[in-house]
Amino acid sequence: MEIKDVKALDDLGILDGINEVIATTEKDGVMNAAPLGIIRDGDNLTIRLFAGSKTFGNILATGWFVANVTHDAWIFAETALGDAPEGSFEIRHGHPTLKDAESWAYFTCEPMRSDIIITQAQFVEGELLRRDFRAFNRGSNLVVECAIAATRYIALRADSYYDEIHKMHRIINRCGGPREKEAMDRLMDRLDRYLHI
Ligand SMILES: Cc1cc2nc3c(=O)[nH]c(=O)nc-3n(C[C@H](O)[C@H](O)[C@H](O)COP(=O)(O)O)c2cc1C
Repeated sequence: MEIKDVKALDDLGILDGINEVIATTEKDGVMNAAPLGIIRDGDNLTIRLFAGSKTFGNILATGWFVANVTHDAWIFAETALGDAPEGSFEIRHGHPTLKDAESWAYFTCEPMRSDIIITQAQFVEGELLRRDFRAFNRGSNLVVECAIAATRYIALRADSYYDEIHKMHRIINRCGGPREKEAMDRLMDRLDRYLHI
């Protein structure tokens, strides 16, 4: 299903508000995946990129990114502090996407170099691959919150983020399934490694 109309973003699961997606990008033949928020207000789409990430550099260099919609909290935790595992990518319509995405949407933008890029994004095309159906899981959402807190902790070193992560970790252990618990174990390991550098 190829969609050109921005209203069709609804069908791809990109709705009004902040859409937490996995952005896949590429530069010099190297693909990258990392969490990104797409802010949608009707037809208006904006992204905010902080300097220093591979996603920042790739989008600045190429002027495009793919938004992959997924309910898999594991991949948010994994790509927030590290690289996507081998075999995660699949080229669709010539664009790097996540193999297991529920949908993908290709956007172009015209970023200007600065410490923070805030740019409008234009939807070009996308594809609905499968509809995920599952009950709301508190642990799953908290894994994504922990991934955000972990990236902020590394950037700002404010102890409040670390305390937050520990509180959320307890709830994840109670409410999450094996994949959420594994995602957290891996995130905590990575965080510890960063702290000892
Ligand atoms: C749920 C979530 C949303 C995020 N949204 C953004 C964002 O909108 N802009 C941004 O610059 N970083 C965002 N981040 C942080 C980046 O994903 C993080 O800095 C990551 O390490 C970048 O990886 P990269 O170097 O592979 O691009 C987000 C992280 C998470 C967990």
